[in-house]
Amino acid sequence: MRKTVIAGNWKMFKTQAESEDFLKSFLPAVQETPTEREIILCVPFTDLNVLSRNLHGSRVMLGAQNVHWQDEGAFTGEISPPMLTEIGVRYVVIGHSERRQYFGETDETVNLRLKSAQKHGLTPILCVGETKQQRDRGETEKLIAMQIERDLVGVDQDNLVIAYEPIWAIGTGDTCESKEANRVIGLIRTQLKNPDVPIQYGGSVKPNLIDDIMAQPEIDGVLVGGASLEAESFARIVNYH
Ligand code: PGA
Repeated sequence: MRKTVIAGNWKMFKTQAESEDFLKSFLPAVQETPTEREIILCVPFTDLNVLSRNLHGSRVMLGAQNVHWQDEGAFTGEISPPMLTEIGVRYVVIGHSERRQYFGETDETVNLRLKSAQKHGLTPILCVGETKQQRDRGETEKLIAMQIERDLVGVDQDNLVIAYEPIWAIGTGDTCESKEANRVIGLIRTQLKNPDVPIQYGGSVKPNLIDDIMAQPEIDGVLVGGASLEAESFARIVNYH
């Protein structure tokens, strides 16, 4: 049985005060959400502690947006796995296209981060996806297959979530057609050793689209940026019909 995993990715948004405000409206709105849906909030490092305290005893899981492959060391600006697990972080987004695009993340560093996260008991959410140019050139399938192959070398597929996020759909309002997302996610699944790895769709997921997206047989959840910043809209996504 594949797990349903709904994750919010706050990116570089919300101070601690703003994150507490969010929880005041969000937590009551997900009290009746079916328990088999995993709900995750992947938030900025400075918000992790305040969320950890406020989520204690709730069913919402805490996620980070990056993790280094060393336990400690001279790596200015990075965060280590024990620093995350100490405050109750359970998930971590790895290889998001914004990190690949703006911060020099490569398949090699993604692979190192995945393995170190797993070694410390964190569940990685690995992001893959093609650019508009790659899609227009008909390279989507090849590109995704290559990312999956390179990123997953030596990675435990029993403790993993994958997010298919076409880069042209992220933050653009230009959502990938749900049947097309379903098709690509099905292709990703054929490449995995473990067919039960939950595979999410991500890219301009909005409350009005969620029921259709979640009705697709291959799609096991969503990774949500913009629409996860507002409690009401993210609650509607979590509470899809
Ligand atoms: P978006 O972001 O929902 O704002 O498009 C998705 C993501 O980057 O994970």
